[in-house]
Amino acid sequence: MSTPSWNIAIIGATGLVGKEMVSILEERNFPVGKLYLFASEKSEGNLMPFQQKSHRVQKLTPENIERCKNIDLALFSAGNEISKKFIPLFAERGTISIDNSSAFRMDPEVPLVVPEVNYEAISQFKNKNMISNPNCSTVQLVQVLKPIHDAYRIKRVVVSTYQSTSGKGKEGMEELSQQTVALFTNKDLKVSEFPHQIAFNCIPHIDSFFNNGYTFEEMKVILETQKILNAPQLKVSATCVRIPTFSCHGESVNIETYDPFTVEEVVTLLSQTKGIKVVDDPQKNIYPTNVLGTGKNETFVGRLRPDVTVEHGLNLWIISDNLRKGAALNAVQISEALIHEFL
Ligand SMILES: NC(=O)c1ccc[n+]([C@@H]2O[C@H](COP(=O)([O-])OP(=O)(O)OC[C@H]3O[C@@H](n4cnc5c(N)ncnc54)[C@H](OP(=O)(O)O)[C@@H]3O)[C@@H](O)[C@H]2O)c1
Repeated sequence: MSTPSWNIAIIGATGLVGKEMVSILEERNFPVGKLYLFASEKSEGNLMPFQQKSHRVQKLTPENIERCKNIDLALFSAGNEISKKFIPLFAERGTISIDNSSAFRMDPEVPLVVPEVNYEAISQFKNKNMISNPNCSTVQLVQVLKPIHDAYRIKRVVVSTYQSTSGKGKEGMEELSQQTVALFTNKDLKVSEFPHQIAFNCIPHIDSFFNNGYTFEEMKVILETQKILNAPQLKVSATCVRIPTFSCHGESVNIETYDPFTVEEVVTLLSQTKGIKVVDDPQKNIYPTNVLGTGKNETFVGRLRPDVTVEHGLNLWIISDNLRKGAALNAVQISEALIHEFL
């Protein structure tokens, strides 16, 4: 008997996340039948490799979608406006979408999923024929908070993020490269993707400002964390900072719990958690860094130590590849769960 295969569409296939999706589908031997690649007009006709064949990129239009037969899953990473316009079209045709944009994340009918954290929520895809992938900074945070919350009941979390330029797509990475070269060659700096020069700088501002003083990026981390952990009362505060790195997001996290714990217990707990790797031997300079995390599937945790200023406090440091677990890998894992258990 032949194994079933699934027809997949990648929307935003030529972007950083889209390319990573294509390579992760191949890497994990996802049973792809037909692969349809969509992007903007600019990329129409470009060829992308998948399983030793070249695949042609199509312009995303309702007519071109109509011409593709029986798409089972559509993985979206082309921004909010594209998701808002095209996901309902796919849903009408019976295609299930997995969306990397923030367009539907807080819709109470749309599941927001990190498989290691709230796998059971996947079954709610039937509400709107879609599942949302959380913000990249949220994914790595909830992976670490979930086991701690289950064991010791978290009262409050304060997170500061150190987010790489790839979080702003290919243009963001390009801007860091160009500015770095310009600074070394005495050329004028072009600033367009970020509010200030990003080369040799850190910018405490990601996305626009909300009327409460937080940015939208910070509010995404707060609200998505509460939704995924099913803990609307959980106190979370976030400061999101863009830093001049190409890949991985770092997070300094301060956690206060209701129940007592020892750091050794938390290390054991996190070491036994799927998807997490504890890397923590500071006396030997061993802790997670961007270089360690780049291209990896795991979320890395280190610098675990008590926060001595509160009764049950913990400090730790998280690193994860924002393009993999923060986006493409998480979407492919959701797809794997769908085809193996829910379809
Ligand atoms: N980067 C991350 O770490 C990350 C993490 C989580 C979620 N996300 C989300 O994923 C999405 C994409 O991010 P990215 O980093 O991959 O961005 P990117 O590198 O800038 O890529 C954007 C993709 O969208 C396509 N696109 C743009 N306008 C389009 C249009 N009118 N019609 C069809 N396709 C269009 C682009 O096609 P062309 O190449 O033809 O322009 C490209 O394939 C965003 O919603 C982002 O918020 C990103």
